[in-house]
Amino acid sequence: MNYASVFQATAFTSRTKQEVDILQNCLFCVDGQGIIADIVHPGEDAYEQVREEAGSAGRLTVIPECSYLLPGFVDLHCHAPQWAQAGTALDIPLHDWLNTYTFPCEAKFSDLSYADTVYSDAVSTLLANGTTTALYFATVHKEASVRLAEICADRGQRGLVGKVVMDLQEECPEFYRDENTETALQDTEEFIQRVQEIGQRTKQGVYPVITPRFVPTCTDSVLEGLGKLAAKYDTHVQSHCSESDWAHDHVRERFGENDAFVLNSFGLLRDKSVMAHCNFLADEDAALFAKTGTAIGHCPVSNAYFANSVIPIRRFMGMGVDIGLGSDISGGFSPSLFDNARQAVMSSRMLEDGVDPRTPSDERGTPDSRITISEAFYLATAGGGESLSLPVGRLETGYAWDVQRIDPSLHSARLPLYDRDEPLIDVFQKMMYLVRPEHIRQVWVQGELVHSRLMD
Ligand code: GUN
Ligand code: FE
Repeated sequence: MNYASVFQATAFTSRTKQEVDILQNCLFCVDGQGIIADIVHPGEDAYEQVREEAGSAGRLTVIPECSYLLPGFVDLHCHAPQWAQAGTALDIPLHDWLNTYTFPCEAKFSDLSYADTVYSDAVSTLLANGTTTALYFATVHKEASVRLAEICADRGQRGLVGKVVMDLQEECPEFYRDENTETALQDTEEFIQRVQEIGQRTKQGVYPVITPRFVPTCTDSVLEGLGKLAAKYDTHVQSHCSESDWAHDHVRERFGENDAFVLNSFGLLRDKSVMAHCNFLADEDAALFAKTGTAIGHCPVSNAYFANSVIPIRRFMGMGVDIGLGSDISGGFSPSLFDNARQAVMSSRMLEDGVDPRTPSDERGTPDSRITISEAFYLATAGGGESLSLPVGRLETGYAWDVQRIDPSLHSARLPLYDRDEPLIDVFQKMMYLVRPEHIRQVWVQGELVHSRLMD
């Protein structure tokens, strides 16, 4: 039993989409690659021996009883450059928002030293919020996008990074777009090769992602070329899909079909594809997602501002579509997947009940739409891992040791835990609803400590 480290702790992890497993005072045995090699429960024969051996080798970490471990979160949709405008620019609809605020914001990343500053902060901020794996949009700039991958590599975050492609002149301003289709594809291919090299020297993995911004800003030929590159390099793929009335209708007018079928016709719906938002997916689109293994990156905070609707997430879960959570910085103002899990629950309940008090109650809502906080936790963890086809998001043998340690007993921000006999499932719920970044004391990715915060 030669483990690199052993953690004695109480932890929570999803057993199913609905149910949370409580692993009380277990020994989590992590191997040299940062993978959970074994979980030993109290009362099992090996428990004392594993504990003693790890202790005498100086490899045992005892997490105090008043702290709890959760799997690190998986953010399935984050625009790292937009961290620079998070919390602002939330006053106008999507199309205007892109042209007025967001394209100018992203254009600044032609400057590598500016990119360095913002990207370093974005990665540190996500880690401090418990996000151990993140699927990032960078910008159209190849060099700055490579820099984001390097920062993830250096900071120990599992980053999946895309150089954004937008080459359709009518929809993209001259100051911010790929020069032409050919350079967009050449830059993407070089980007993939360079990020694959960077990824090879990391323990946690850093990956290139094919990233057409969304169908409206891309030519048919670039979408076709990107589909071919996805197959050639077997990469992840990300885009925005059927997000708002405008985006959805725009694609229907151009192609006579929905985003999902358009993206699929170019080879962009694959097992490792993640599509952000997807509010306006028809049932046939969702069935196509399930068939191709394409996942939904559900961004509930952003959707409240830009999506003109609440996505029927329970319905799509029931159809067998992989789903995880995304912050969508900065369409979503919060870098925290705790905040997004809360909003996912609240939005789903508003969909179920309806929102207009002048409508009779039996006509107001969409029945069977609500999700629970345990289901939202699943989306933020295991659902994200499944969406990316990576062994992350669960505390289980064979999964990466990607973990956040929550300390609810801070003097300045104590969670309401008064009863020593309080059921642990209630402690879990209080954490899901009330944790702030101050409570996230330590974060590990692939067995390495990547964030720690001193006690107040
Ligand atoms: N659609 C195209 N680009 C974007 C973006 O940056 N954010 C959001 N929310 N939707 C988009
Ligand atoms: Fe987005």
